[in-house]
Amino acid sequence: MDEKLLAVKNLSVVYKTDEVVYAVNKINFDIGRKETIGLVGETGAGKTTTALAILQLLPEKTGCITEGKILYRGEDLLGKSKREMGLIRGAHISMIFQDPMTSLNPIMTVGDQIMESLVIHDHERKHRKTLEARVDELLKLVGIQSRRKGEYPHQFSGGMKQRVVIAIALACAPELLIADEPTTALDVTIQAQVLDLMEDLKEKLGTSMIMITHDLGVVAQTCDKVAIMYAGEIIEKGTVQDIFEAEKHHPYTIGLFGSIPDLQVETRRLNPIEGLMPDPTNLPLGCKFHPRCKFCMEICRHEHPEPRVFNEHAIACHLFEKEV
Ligand SMILES: Nc1ncnc2c1ncn2[C@@H]1O[C@H](COP(=O)(O)OP(=O)(O)OP(=O)(O)O)[C@@H](O)[C@H]1O
Ligand SMILES: [Mg+2]
Repeated sequence: MDEKLLAVKNLSVVYKTDEVVYAVNKINFDIGRKETIGLVGETGAGKTTTALAILQLLPEKTGCITEGKILYRGEDLLGKSKREMGLIRGAHISMIFQDPMTSLNPIMTVGDQIMESLVIHDHERKHRKTLEARVDELLKLVGIQSRRKGEYPHQFSGGMKQRVVIAIALACAPELLIADEPTTALDVTIQAQVLDLMEDLKEKLGTSMIMITHDLGVVAQTCDKVAIMYAGEIIEKGTVQDIFEAEKHHPYTIGLFGSIPDLQVETRRLNPIEGLMPDPTNLPLGCKFHPRCKFCMEICRHEHPEPRVFNEHAIACHLFEKEV
């Protein structure tokens, strides 16, 4: 069976506020078992929206998937009922949110919070003792002494809280973990520890992962594949080697990376590029990047570039049109 664990096909998402925000536009990517894909891009590129769409956690009143498919083990999640999605969340796909400090309940002990996520998905109605043992095991897995399970979140440091969040996300041994900037809120040394922990757990548990980040060092350290988003589109994707070592790149990628760094980078924030991302309520015709692009040609102003594929490496830019 070589079907992908998750395949996102032609997915578009809008937010209907006073205006229509075109947050994600016809994106395609997939994830194999035990694979990690990095979603990279400036603020507002549509990374979190993509994650929320996969889990169907978009705001009910405004967020709307307008087209596409989200195939999980070959089945379209968009056809699932609310109840079915509830069972998939946590048990099969779980998420570490962008602001993890607020995802813990301040008036519940950390042990009870981990226990709660186990109980929700405990269809076999396991013995309380078995679940307690699992809580201890999860705490140990993320490097917290189990005697601290009776403490409350405020008694933990930022890095420890993030470990608890990871333990909760992993409680039901999901096949896919979506981590939305899991280390951004932490200071640098703690960031490294939490990343090492996530790498270690991924290895041990064989979890596939979507890693959303602004940090190229994180991409180099944790990802097998990378998708670069701009104005709701994936403008370049490929293996981590393609993204760091290939000669051809989308002009946006080159701008973002400053220069293409090698895979040994420790940590490198994305480079600020001159100009702003277009207003998502009023996207430009043609290539969405053309107003900021140094290589802009006439065709870029009116024709949307389809991705050109060089093996697994795909670049949506007119510069490469004639090369295939
Ligand atoms: N609930 C919402 N209502 C209306 N617009 C929204 C909502 N959430 C996000 N947006 C808009 O959708 C676009 C994509 O936002 P999203 O949060 O997915 O970006 P992001 O890539 O995760 O950015 P960041 O790196 O800052 O987290 C942005 O223009 C944002 O302003
Ligand atoms: Mg985000």
